[in-house]
Amino acid sequence: MSDLILEDSPGHEQTMTVDEAVTARRSIRAFLPRPVPLDTVRGVLERAARAPSGGNLQPWRIHVVTDAPLSKLKALMAVRAREVPQEAPVDYEIYPTPLPEPYKARRTACGEAMYALLDIARTDRERRWNRLRENFQLFGAPLGLFCCVDRCMGAPQWADLGMYLQTVMLLLKARGLDSCAQEAWALYPRTMAAFLRLPDDQMLFCGMAVGWADPDAPVNRLVTERAPLEAFVRFHTGDADDS
Ligand SMILES: Cc1cc2nc3c(=O)[nH]c(=O)nc-3n(C[C@H](O)[C@H](O)[C@H](O)COP(=O)(O)O)c2cc1C
Repeated sequence: MSDLILEDSPGHEQTMTVDEAVTARRSIRAFLPRPVPLDTVRGVLERAARAPSGGNLQPWRIHVVTDAPLSKLKALMAVRAREVPQEAPVDYEIYPTPLPEPYKARRTACGEAMYALLDIARTDRERRWNRLRENFQLFGAPLGLFCCVDRCMGAPQWADLGMYLQTVMLLLKARGLDSCAQEAWALYPRTMAAFLRLPDDQMLFCGMAVGWADPDAPVNRLVTERAPLEAFVRFHTGDADDS
């Protein structure tokens, strides 16, 4: 297994195999205030563009927000997220309505596991809302990535965005950095389009909090489950396909 090599990360000599990075990456939802070196982020974003995309379109458009612009965004969203729970209409629905099984149960399980670690009861709507709003403070992260896409792009190119973003998260992990992808930002399409100064033919897909995990935060102990292989893989093998 080849290593993710870090020659573009001065001071970070460690290497991590792809397997190790895939296993170690988790969504982190509490970050230390320690800054993230911009050179490291630049190197990650550049290398992640080796991700494949249909026809090599490379449809990802990334905005990096940190320092004073991020303070401005966090202040803006602290107000906006209290004014409205979301802007209407949104550019895309995050989940299908209704969300069928087994997906609904998986979503509920991960949410409940997170709220349990935060010691927030199911009935405590106030604290749940407050927690949701933490998304818009990037969970304390000092740097945010915002992934945008041309509106003309369809499902195949959105899949390409996913490949790019996962590659970013793995390369960050290999450099000791953590992340949390955040579709929650799509609840505020107009605020974000204005803030990022997006042209009308582009839209926000998701944000990503990037930083150094707070090792003492209980929420960061969340390790989500995965369905067993048999639940999502069907092997068509052998002489006769009688599966
Ligand atoms: C595209 C995408 C958007 C996500 N949006 C959010 C979000 O808005 N807020 C959040 O707390 N987690 C978000 N997540 C994190 C998922 O909840 C998380 O990936 C999932 O529960 C699996 O956990 P893991 O990442 O720790 O393996 C998002 C993940 C992805 C891939």
